Amino acid sequence: MQITKENAALAALEYIEDGMTLGLGSGSTAEIFIKHLGLLVADGMEIIGVPTSKRTEAVAIENGVPLIEPDKVSSIQLTIDGADEVDPGFSLIKGGGACLLREKIIAHASDKMIVIADDSKIVDTLGEYPLPIEVDPFAIALTAEKIYNALVNSGCESAVTVLRQKINGGGPLITDGGHFLLDCSCKKIPDPAETAFLLSKIPGVMEHGLFVDLASIIIVGFENHAKVMEKN
Ligand code: A5P
Repeated sequence: MQITKENAALAALEYIEDGMTLGLGSGSTAEIFIKHLGLLVADGMEIIGVPTSKRTEAVAIENGVPLIEPDKVSSIQLTIDGADEVDPGFSLIKGGGACLLREKIIAHASDKMIVIADDSKIVDTLGEYPLPIEVDPFAIALTAEKIYNALVNSGCESAVTVLRQKINGGGPLITDGGHFLLDCSCKKIPDPAETAFLLSKIPGVMEHGLFVDLASIIIVGFENHAKVMEKN
């Protein structure tokens, strides 16, 4: 798995140019990319990164990648990030690493988003991977009910929702933004744009893990090479 992620991350370096402000994604594939980016910086490449999570911020600092505080950034030329699933229309499920809100803010603000993913992430239809939804903790049962309705009404095959817990126990996981995460087992999401639209109308939903019309390039890593797919 590691080499497939590494091949995707290495291929993404081709898109980095001097002077760029780069959105830095979260997750293991993005971290591999950041480590290689650190080597380019050490060789004199001048870029500045915008981290999408506290963990990514730490990895960037560790690897010598200069950062700008997200509050101070005014434009981002390119974001490089991983994904949990990618469909043929370049719609994504993201948020397995609990960073989807900040990832989406940065991807949405970027001129271009490139996804780096190992070949296991490529699917015909989104939904086998549980869809993460970041919610405000207030009245969460009411929000969960609305989410259930949105998933069913947009044709998802299943709508079983589980509150994500901290890995080592101690209650619900809290995101970097101070919210809870609901992981929704949808099995199949036949119309990601419609599901995204219905979820975005629910007040307690801070953000959902469907990234529709954001990625324009997908780099898929295999054992011996990487394949670049560009959106028409
Ligand atoms: C983080 O919240 C996620 O969106 C990650 O980008 C996604 O889970 C992919 O992670 P890996 O690169 O670790 O598979």
